[in-house]
Amino acid sequence: MKVIRTVKELQKQIKDLHLSPVGLVPTMGALHKGHLSLVRNAITQCPLVVISIYVNPTQFNDKKDLKNYPRDIQSDLDLLRKVTRKDDIIFIPDDKEIYPVEDKRIFHFGNLDNVMEALHRPGHFNGVAQVVGRLFDIVKPDVAYFGMKDFQQIAVIKELVRQYKYNVKIVGNPIIREPDGLAMSSRNRLLEPEMRKKVPLIYKTISSASGMIHKNTISEIRNYVRGTIEKANGLHVEYFEIVDDTKLKPVSTRREMKKGNRYYGCIAVQAGKIRLIDNIEFPLV
Ligand code: PAJ
Repeated sequence: MKVIRTVKELQKQIKDLHLSPVGLVPTMGALHKGHLSLVRNAITQCPLVVISIYVNPTQFNDKKDLKNYPRDIQSDLDLLRKVTRKDDIIFIPDDKEIYPVEDKRIFHFGNLDNVMEALHRPGHFNGVAQVVGRLFDIVKPDVAYFGMKDFQQIAVIKELVRQYKYNVKIVGNPIIREPDGLAMSSRNRLLEPEMRKKVPLIYKTISSASGMIHKNTISEIRNYVRGTIEKANGLHVEYFEIVDDTKLKPVSTRREMKKGNRYYGCIAVQAGKIRLIDNIEFPLV
């Protein structure tokens, strides 16, 4: 693999290699098996894969979160060396490469701006759209890979592609979990040991909830999820919504759920100082 830090050098390499399709895996580093699953999938489909590592300041609505976000480039490169090929590129830009001038663009994503993460992290998706748009402009990938763990992020990026007519296919990859069910996340390493023992309850609870869809009302399911998780000291459910996978409109009754659509239960939990998200499909059949 090649490690490249500037846009100029990256674009020269991509042009010289002349390989297609080009795959892009955007990340913020502190890599784990979830990220590596995206890289592996990209490698099976694309002769050239660009993996970006960039902690994008514009998507952090909380400056403390930006400061504390884990960074470990050495360990990231060690992990990537094991899964990448000779021509694959690790792109590690600094702020000036991504934002040579301040990015003042404001994006509008309709209903996606008014639900779940968007309500609790104002400005977050605007920052995600800025950086992903920049990466698309720089790398010009044919395919870009994202994790279903960030369910709303995928919907926002598909909408970005639609609005700006990016010629890129968006692939969503399944959530990779720890053996106890906790969705892998770079932020997991910031959990205190006592909290780390409690948080598998999140996945356990939404898994049981997904089986309740045929016998219980949506409001019973919501109460079950909140009640079960909040019994653990220090866990606070910020939201739990059952939404369709395109418009992400929360449903409030079982009748609103249409056969042929797919529905997901999406949750955000404040676990002490760390905020975790997860989701699971609520299959109708
Ligand atoms: P980051 O949190 O580093 O995640 C990079 C990619 O890995 C995202 O597409 C995310 O959904 C995926 N991912 C994270 N944990 C996963 C898991 N347990 N299983 C499967 N995929 C997982 O998401 C971002 O960075 C940023 O917002 C980014 C898109 C890079 C823009 O800055």
